[in-house]
Amino acid sequence: KGCKLVGCGSAVPKLKISNDDLAKIVDTTDEWIAVRTGIRNRRVLSGKDRLTTLAVEAAEKALQMAQVDPDDVDLVLMCSSTPEDLFGSAPQIQKALGCKRNPLAYDITAACSGFILGLVSAACHIRGGGFNNVLVIGADSLSRYVDWTDRGTCILFGDAAGAVLVQACDSEEDGLYGFDLHSDGEGQRHLNASIKENEMDHVLGSNGSVSDFPPRQSSYSCIQMNGKEVFRFAVRCVPQSIESALGKAGMHGSSIDWLLLHQANQRILDAVATRLEVPPERVISNLANYGNTSAASIPLALDEAVRSGKVKAGHTIAAAGFGAGLTWGSAILRW
Ligand code: ACO
Repeated sequence: KGCKLVGCGSAVPKLKISNDDLAKIVDTTDEWIAVRTGIRNRRVLSGKDRLTTLAVEAAEKALQMAQVDPDDVDLVLMCSSTPEDLFGSAPQIQKALGCKRNPLAYDITAACSGFILGLVSAACHIRGGGFNNVLVIGADSLSRYVDWTDRGTCILFGDAAGAVLVQACDSEEDGLYGFDLHSDGEGQRHLNASIKENEMDHVLGSNGSVSDFPPRQSSYSCIQMNGKEVFRFAVRCVPQSIESALGKAGMHGSSIDWLLLHQANQRILDAVATRLEVPPERVISNLANYGNTSAASIPLALDEAVRSGKVKAGHTIAAAGFGAGLTWGSAILRW
């Protein structure tokens, strides 16, 4: 059995925060941010906005494009590190979409690699598990975990949701040509938003007594990042991963129509494209408008590129995600 991409959609919050807006709250400038990252604006959830609402909107657009009824969806994968329920958001999204005919829904947590992992998981479920219509949603709201006094991180992130529908097809029509996935917990120290340290050893005291009972409620620290290390990791590992996925697909950088990377930093996009000898006009980039939207960035950029007519039916895309964990991975796709 094969699988193919048959629809995409995306949604972003209304509130737009420009670099000049950020310069009013931290010591930075539009020029510094634009030159170092390529980012000019980002969208941020505000007021009563909910990430699940964005995820549902993106998924509905993907279903409309694919002309698939919600009841025919048999799996919903919500790729997110910022669910609005500790136990995950996927079943709530399934309910809101009206997928009622006995579907499965669960969350995947892998930061900015989440969407690629979701895509490959969808393919595995279709090829080996008998599923037919799998919604893969990438949605994150890292703005809720950013330290808005830290100019090294608060300039980077935005909130968004994107979705694709992956459908079972005959093996000759298969649209996932190859993939390559990795993780390295050693690098977690360079990028994390860990549970607060003093809340880790709360259940039993050091002598095994229950003196600390009942436990305190837990919460997460803001995002901590060593930008230079993350940059080096991305530029080293992402081209290797794409080359490996291309090799499994029997392809080369010159065979692809589009390079679609997680939108973290324009300088990372440029460096990876140079290593792979992909010319700039074949690199999809929208981070000037949205910043780094974590698991949402690849389906958001794909959706814009498809709806603007840039990515056309039959085009080959090398997509890669990378980020916290550390995690990274690539997939060679046909639109
Ligand atoms: N405005 C002005 N100056 C700043 C700012 C800012 N917003 N941020 C940092 N600086 C200063 C620093 O304090 C430093 O000053 P100093 O030389 O006096 O000490 C100087 O600028 C250089 O700082 P660096 O951190 O060395 O700057 P760098 O060129 O590495 O750029 C950046 C920083 C943009 C964060 C870059 O390292 C980067 O993009 N890294 C990758 C990050 C990334 O992609 N993370 C997301 C991964 S996805 C996920 O899973 C969440």
